[in-house]
Formats: sequence, C-alpha cells, structure tokens
Amino acid sequence: MRVLFIGGTGFISTAVSRMAIERGMELYLLNRGIRSTEMSGAIQLTGDIHNPESMRSALKDLKFDVVVDWIAFTPEDVERDLKVFRGRTRQFVFISSASAYQKPPVNYIITESTPLKNPYWEYSRNKIACEELLMKAYRDEDFPVTIVRPSYTYNTYLPVAIGGFGCYTLADRMLKGKPIIVHGDGSSLWVNTHAEDFAKGFLGLLGNDKTIGQAFHITSDEVLTWNQIYQTIADELGVEAKMVYIPSDFIVKVVPRLTGDLLGDKTYSVVFDNSKIKSFVPEFQATISFREGMRRALEWFAEDKNRQGINENVNQEMDRIIQAYASK
Ligand SMILES: NC(=O)c1ccc[n+]([C@@H]2O[C@H](COP(=O)([O-])OP(=O)(O)OC[C@H]3O[C@@H](n4cnc5c(N)ncnc54)[C@H](OP(=O)(O)O)[C@@H]3O)[C@@H](O)[C@H]2O)c1
Repeated sequence: MRVLFIGGTGFISTAVSRMAIERGMELYLLNRGIRSTEMSGAIQLTGDIHNPESMRSALKDLKFDVVVDWIAFTPEDVERDLKVFRGRTRQFVFISSASAYQKPPVNYIITESTPLKNPYWEYSRNKIACEELLMKAYRDEDFPVTIVRPSYTYNTYLPVAIGGFGCYTLADRMLKGKPIIVHGDGSSLWVNTHAEDFAKGFLGLLGNDKTIGQAFHITSDEVLTWNQIYQTIADELGVEAKMVYIPSDFIVKVVPRLTGDLLGDKTYSVVFDNSKIKSFVPEFQATISFREGMRRALEWFAEDKNRQGINENVNQEMDRIIQAYASK
C-alpha cells in the first residue's frame, strides 16, 4: 500500500508513521523537514503545504492508495486538499478532533453519532466545517474520505488540562513543590490515549473501502478522573501533588485563552464507545495503561535535559489563576 502522510513527524503521527513502516507500507512523508524526528524507512518529500509551488514540486505526478492530512484545520485547508488530491488517491483521511462532539454533552457516552457542535471552541468548529465540506465532496463526487476524530492522544508529553502542551512545565512545577490547578473538583471523567494504541486502530482503517464516507474515534477504554490523572503523574515523578481545585468558569475569566480547552472540551465527563472502530478493525484494543504511558513519557523527558522545556507564559498564567482564586 502506497501511503502519503502530510506531516507524519508530529505528536500523534510519529508513532503511526513508525508502525506503518513496521507493517511494510510504502510510506511517503511530506513535511518541511524542520522536526528532526528519525524516520528511517520512509520516503521523505520536502514541501510546505501552504505553498502550492513547493507542493507541486514535492508531489510531482505521484499517486497514492491513501493520503492522510494530519494538519488540515480550516475549510480553506480542505479546499486546497480537494484540489490537490482529487483523482490522486483511493482514500483520503481527514484528521478531525473528538472536541467537535456536542459541548456540553447531553450524554457522557460518546459514539460517532453524537452530534457535532461546539459553541466554545473555534478550533472544533473549524474541524466540523472541514468534515462537512469533505462529506459534501463524498456525496456529490464520490471523493473517498474517511474521517478520524482523535481524542486526547499523547506520546512524549503529559496530557493534562492546564500545564502546557508539549512541554515539561507541569512536571517541573510538581517537582518544585509548586501548586497545580485541577479544574472543577477533579472528579469528571476523561480518557487519554497513547499514540501507539491509536496507531493500531488507525492503520487498520487504511486501504479499507468500507470506511469511505465513515467517521471514527479511536481511544483507550481506560476511564480516569482528572484527580487520578494528576495523581498518576505525581506518583511517577515520586512527589506529592499540591492540587488546587478551581471551577472552570473562574479559570477562563482569568485566562480567556483556556475557554476552548476547558468549556469546549475537558470540563465535561466523556467516555468513548469504541464499538465502531472495533467492528471495522477487530484486532484493535488499547493496551497501554495511563500509568505505563506516563512512565514512558517521563523516561523520555529524563533521557535528555534539552527536552525539558518550560513554558514561562503557562507558568505565569497558572500562578495568576491561583492568586486570583485565593484572593477572591
Ligand atoms: N494530540 C491530540 O490530542 C489531538 C486531539 C485531537 C485532534 N488532534 C489532531 O491531530 C493532528 C495533529 O497531528 P500530529 O501529531 O501529526 O501533529 P503535530 O504534532 O502538530 O505535527 C505537525 C506535523 O506537520 C508537519 N508540518 C507542520 N507545518 C507544515 C507545513 N506548513 N507544511 C508541511 N508540513 C508541515 C510537521 O513537520 P515539519 O515541522 O518538519 O514541517 C509535523 O510532521 C491535528 O490535526 C490535530 O487537530 C490531535
């Protein structure tokens, strides 16, 4: 199977690329080559997806069995992909987001039929608009789209609600005995999925004609409270977590930037019904527990101090929220 990933060296897609190569797929990666991720076995195409000329010269007249765009976020991105990949691929996979599912949810169990609606997060509304455009192309012209909606999927970072994405800020605070913020009372339910588990379900969808016109989420079946999530990270760091409980509404008043992340996503309990992905990919079963995933992520950070980046803006925001709550 000849597969093109646009991106492919990112937080989720690195694990998927590695597994695709292991499974013998002929994998092309189209990215700018800025990330120095080691990916031997893939065919590197260097190009910028936002630059049509660089895309044309990278892709030449190559055709694919599957194209996955890991980094399409807006209807404009999708319009461009439709132009470039019509007639060039037998399957086009759009990476959407589980944050597109109805917020607030009327039922905490999420299936692929849960309505898509998120008044709190523009990122999610854009993903919904992308899905609609692609489904229209499927209905009108048989464009062979499959939609995948990852939920919080991690590999080498700590999947938390507040404390930085892709950095070491939260772990650093915990190690220094500084307080961390837990939204609400920490009892709402959440699901974090390791990228290697996601990859097992994802790769099973590629090249399967029955997935055309369908949408899937792919998550772990391990359900945790946010208290358990932060406690697990603290346990693996060998420290005591100083959790400060603050309502989401209060947090977003102090730092409006967090509105989408909280009110548009992590404030509510969600549990994913994975029956659909399991019926299409019967061998799929997530097996990496959150504790094991955190052990691996923290080992990865510990291997090289240069990986332990601290986001000072996030640190200051956390301090500001905690101070504002203490003095209210
Ligand atoms: N992580 C989650 O929990 C989560 C949850 C829901 C949905 N998602 C979705 O998952 C996707 C993220 O996947 P990911 O892990 O692969 O992403 P990522 O970590 O953002 O990686 C971005 C990839 O795209 C390449 N890239 C960036 N800008 C480019 C450009 N202008 N032209 C060509 N290549 C470019 C990067 O390589 P270079 O920098 O070398 O070009 C890299 O390979 C997004 O669509 C996101 O909405 C993620």
